[in-house]
Amino acid sequence: MKISGRTALYGVVGYPISHSLSPIFQNRVFEHLGLNAVYVPFEVKPENLKTALEGLKALGIKGVNVTIPHKENVLELVDYADEHAKNIGAVNTVKFGDKTEGYNTDWVGFLKSLKEILPELKDKKVLVLGAGGSARAVLYALKQEGAQVFLWNRTKEKAKLLSQSFGVEVVESPEEVVPTADLIINTTSVGLTEDYMLFDYSLIRERQVVFELLYNRQTLLKEWAEKRGAIYSDGLKMLVYQGLESFRLWTGCEPSPKVALQALSGHLKLTL
Ligand code: ATR
Repeated sequence: MKISGRTALYGVVGYPISHSLSPIFQNRVFEHLGLNAVYVPFEVKPENLKTALEGLKALGIKGVNVTIPHKENVLELVDYADEHAKNIGAVNTVKFGDKTEGYNTDWVGFLKSLKEILPELKDKKVLVLGAGGSARAVLYALKQEGAQVFLWNRTKEKAKLLSQSFGVEVVESPEEVVPTADLIINTTSVGLTEDYMLFDYSLIRERQVVFELLYNRQTLLKEWAEKRGAIYSDGLKMLVYQGLESFRLWTGCEPSPKVALQALSGHLKLTL
């Protein structure tokens, strides 16, 4: 990588940030397109978010992705937020210019990766597990597509709040919907460090679609989905597609998903 006086700077803002895979594929895509740009991680504590954004702008940084735990708070700090970011209640992409602009590309990344295994979502019966930050983009995307969405969360109050924002139905237990659902989506952090069954995984049906936002983890849900003959996807492609949508917003260039995925599979030693 040749850094010069003309190198454009991009990055990702989060806390913690050392685990982020975004620099791996974003830098590869810059390189592949021959753009003089570099993408770096910025570890920013919540109490420093406002100062950090002002500093990034002052330093002439072109754009950043925003990740946990800042996505909701950044919405309040941008000069302009697009409709999707406002409706979702979170920003994952900031573009600096005369104005600081906030966008959300998580929902696009989610839809694009999901449609590779389930192209038509209209009237599909979907169970969403979890009502945290990432569930918001998922619920928004599913409603846009006309799916029939049921939401379960360990803490009922959070599910109820989201159901009001997104017009989805809250269920008391996942088992109410699992037997008849076309699609089951796990947005919780279960499987990240601790792992246990969020419902009786032996109820998963052959050809049912199971989508999990976690990636690079051998989760119990993945194990059972495969054992039961379901169609399973983790969130790795969602991560790449949301990042490439941000890339498009910043540069106006068309990045190669194949190149981005190859960079990640090389890094993670995966076969995609
Ligand atoms: P993210 O931004 O990744 O969605 P988050 O906002 O912290 O992260 O949300 C985490 C989600 O995982 C929540 O839905 C949380 O459920 P609660 O609202 O009840 O906390 C869910 N979650 C985390 N640990 C869980 C566990 N052990 N069992 C069930 N759900 C869990």
